[in-house]
Amino acid sequence: MQLSQNPSTPILKTLAKKISKVSISELLNDSERVAELNYEIGEIKVDLSRQLLTTSVLSHLIKMANTSEINIKINKLMDGTFLNKSENRPITHFNLRNTSRRNAASWLKLKTFVKKVRDNKEILDVVNIGIGGSHLGSKTAESALKYYCDGPDIHFASSVDPSSMSDILNKCQPKKTIFIINSKSFKTTEVLNNAKLAKQWLKNNNQQQKEFIYVVTASKADAITWGVSEDNIFDFDEGVGGRFSVWSPSGLPLMLAIGVNNFQKFLDGAFIVDEHFRSEDSIRNVPIMMSLVRVWNRNFLNYASHGIIPYEYGLRNFPRYVQQLEMESNGKGVDLDGNTLVMPASPLIWGEVGTDAQHSFFQFIHQGRDIVPVDILVSELPAKLDANSKHVEGHKILVANALGQAEALAFGKENLTEPHRRFHGNRPSSLISWKKSNPYNMGSLIALYENITISSGLIWGINSFDQWGVELGKEITKGLLDENGSSKIRPQLKRFLR
Ligand code: F6P
Repeated sequence: MQLSQNPSTPILKTLAKKISKVSISELLNDSERVAELNYEIGEIKVDLSRQLLTTSVLSHLIKMANTSEINIKINKLMDGTFLNKSENRPITHFNLRNTSRRNAASWLKLKTFVKKVRDNKEILDVVNIGIGGSHLGSKTAESALKYYCDGPDIHFASSVDPSSMSDILNKCQPKKTIFIINSKSFKTTEVLNNAKLAKQWLKNNNQQQKEFIYVVTASKADAITWGVSEDNIFDFDEGVGGRFSVWSPSGLPLMLAIGVNNFQKFLDGAFIVDEHFRSEDSIRNVPIMMSLVRVWNRNFLNYASHGIIPYEYGLRNFPRYVQQLEMESNGKGVDLDGNTLVMPASPLIWGEVGTDAQHSFFQFIHQGRDIVPVDILVSELPAKLDANSKHVEGHKILVANALGQAEALAFGKENLTEPHRRFHGNRPSSLISWKKSNPYNMGSLIALYENITISSGLIWGINSFDQWGVELGKEITKGLLDENGSSKIRPQLKRFLR
């Protein structure tokens, strides 16, 4: 069922028309409502009280979720009986967070490898060659968990621009560096090109590929054809989508950085979120409630974009991560049966770490005519707890900024004589906080956003698990590069090349 077909949609549209009369500052006076809109999931706290949600809007949103049979669909998804129809496969990434996985031979192989590399003090650097979902998850978690990284240094090569690889290789030494070719399909041009550069670099330095190149993929046969032995391959199943794959062997760079025990805690943090997602009623179900806020803002209040602002330097990659997760999953134009969507799906997701964002685009967020709901994320304790409390002091400033922005957005400030100094306020934000950025909480945070994405997709009635929209551009590029091909625009390529 599309959102436009949901019986609650007409009434929500009527309620949205009256929203100009609703003020967030007044809503915040209702302590019962504020308490109701504060949630906990694992060790994460979510405060949705600064959203333009009246009691009536809330009850119709929940009705809308229930009519779309969201809980049944979530259970089907987790049981592996909800098909990704356009690719004809189930969704299996949830299984990776389940402790039962830890008896599997594939887990033992991974674990043994990680221990071996981390114990080998000769290995100083690991280069992950992957793009999109095969790099953003590990990169985001690795920087968020910097103070837990006690393994080799991890570098991420994603761009096909050769300067990316050469910058990394300039920092690495042959014999002391291993490469992970991280590609679910093992067909991605950027990855295969950078993998070739790695192979060449090893050859130029008289090193054996067998010892230094490892592959993570769901296409084992292609990796073997490329020249990697089976022993050096960590495979995973096709049902794990790239952007949901940090829990799979695709998270190998993260595992090498933080070690097996911490990675297990990362999985545990995600598992607790899944258990909540599967079993809580919609009204207390955090991913469902956050997805309802997405849909309310996007489709009824017509706020076309959504900001992700983490107030923690270590989380600087999180906005990009959520951008891929939500926009590749839900940037769709048709429903599950291929019918054109009457109401659009994913908002545009963008963001930047706080407080940097305050000095770039927050002018737009506070006074621009477009309203951008934002998620403000902050931990209660500094990422690094040090004895001389340097970080504690700086952290206090960070938290004050996070709260200060949420307050400014909600309340604004009247100024009748100087319009350029006027803040209208009434701009929605959600506050997401947790005690400390440790592996467990980062697992929870990432799984929370995954599940918000999935839940929103279910309400929109779309397939959140395919990404056909990225194919056409790839095809045309291939044609442009094929000297014997039939691309009509090939002559134009010369215009841009010297
Ligand atoms: O850009 C599309 C995409 O297929 C993403 O979904 C994926 O995460 C990325 O490319 C990398 O794909 P692969 O892991 O197959 O190299």
